[in-house]
Parts: sequence; structure tokens; C-alpha cells
Amino acid sequence: MTAGEQGLTGLVADCVEAMRDSDPRGAAREVLDRAVTDGSLRGGVESAAGLNILYRSSDLTVLNVIWPPNMFLMPHDHRMWAAIGIYGGREDNTFYRRSGDALVTSGGKELTDGTVLLLGQEVINAVHNARGAALRPRCRPAPVRSGGTSGPRRPGLKVGPFRHQRAPRG
Ligand SMILES: [Fe+2]
Repeated sequence: MTAGEQGLTGLVADCVEAMRDSDPRGAAREVLDRAVTDGSLRGGVESAAGLNILYRSSDLTVLNVIWPPNMFLMPHDHRMWAAIGIYGGREDNTFYRRSGDALVTSGGKELTDGTVLLLGQEVINAVHNARGAALRPRCRPAPVRSGGTSGPRRPGLKVGPFRHQRAPRG
């Protein structure tokens, strides 16, 4: 096991502990703040691009997310809070709000190495890996409360459930 993989194992244990805190969101944020700044995740975390599940229980999911170059994740509503920590690369977030049966842009945030972001359960966002293959993969160990999957939304189109079979293929 590499040092980075040991770091992820420790991160999962700390996230599990954070869910027992009287303020689990704040505790999760502290865990991620520490993890993305103390270097414990560096030194060989090798995973394929994608949403790699590190841990899943009735009240917690921990993901190690690695975005491929030029990836765009369409707008989706979270329906649960999430804490996101970036330990390599960059992730550009665009936020949306509902306007009738469509979505309109309401802001954005660029997450860089060492950044931690808390998202509320009402958040609708899209994610873009804008820099292409020249940069490191961006990763986010994201402890989130378990629950139903988000229903992705497309700006300017009628809001509705996401169907994988109808998703555009690259
Ligand atoms: Fe999201």
C-alpha cells in the first residue's frame, strides 16, 4: 500500500468518526481541510478516472473522484450535503438556480489544490475539468450522506429525471 493509499484509508476512518460529531458537516470539513493540506494523500494514489467508492454505509459515502481531461458533468441536484476536498488539479464548478421549469446560472467557483468546499443539499451544480490532459487528474475525496442519486439537469431545458440510456456519448 502506498503512502497516498494509506492516507485515503485514514481519511475514511476520520470521515466515519466525523459523522458521530454533533456537527457532522463541520467535522467533515475539518477532516478534509487536514487531508488536503498535510500531504497525506500524495505519494501514489492510483485510481482510474471516475467516481471511485471508498466507503458506503447508511449515513456516509466517501468517494475518490478523478475527473478525466476536459470532462463536463452536467448540472445535477445533490439532495444531500457534501464536503469536497481537492488534493490535485482543479475543478471548475458552475451553480444554478431554478427558474420555472428551467435552470439559470447563479455563480461559479474554481476549486484548486488544497481547497475544501461544503455544498448544501439544495445545491445544483455542474463540474468542468477545463485544463485538459496537461494537468494532474483532479480528485475529491467527498464524504456525502447516502441517499438517492441526484437527478442531473440541463440549463435551459425542462427539468426532469436523468436517464443514462439517453445521455450523450463522447
Ligand atoms: Fe455536484
